[in-house]
Amino acid sequence: MKNLVIAAALLSAPAFAGDFELKGDAAKGAAHYKTFCVSCHGEKGDGNGPAGAALTPKPGNFTDPVNADHLTPEWVYKMVKNGGAANGKSAMMVPWSGALNEQGLRDVSAYVLSFKPAKAEPAPAPAAAPAKKGKKK
Ligand code: HEC
Repeated sequence: MKNLVIAAALLSAPAFAGDFELKGDAAKGAAHYKTFCVSCHGEKGDGNGPAGAALTPKPGNFTDPVNADHLTPEWVYKMVKNGGAANGKSAMMVPWSGALNEQGLRDVSAYVLSFKPAKAEPAPAPAAAPAKKGKKK
């Protein structure tokens, strides 16, 4: 019986491992962002807050399509929760797990992600093939 319980626990545990689910509420996160993040990351999420402008490296620009790929929900959450130093980045980005509870961390992460551009245009291939002509194989 005990083994069954353990097996059940093991089966349900990996839900967290593979696909990360943020489960954050951006609308709630907005208030946290304005309290804790705006001074560096800026009202618009472009990294140009009054305190952020003076930093090296500067806080990232959440709105830049160039950054869109690496700003995954998991990365944003990890940075917010554990801070820059724990993730090989600037220690000026401190961990926020002391200031925000678990749901707060997730909500503010969701708000950060809401700055991302809707969908980066796929870069046009440099030597764009001329409109397809029936090509023989
Ligand atoms: C004291 C200034 C400061 C404050 C306040 C601050 N950050 Fe940062 N943050 C930074 C800096 C600087 C970086 C860039 C670290 C690097 O690239 O080495 C950063 C990086 C990040 C990143 C990673 C960006 C990327 O492109 O990988 C996220 C996400 C982030 N911050 C979210 C937040 C959130 C959410 C808050 C508020 C809870 C917050 N930050 C508060 C300075 C700050």
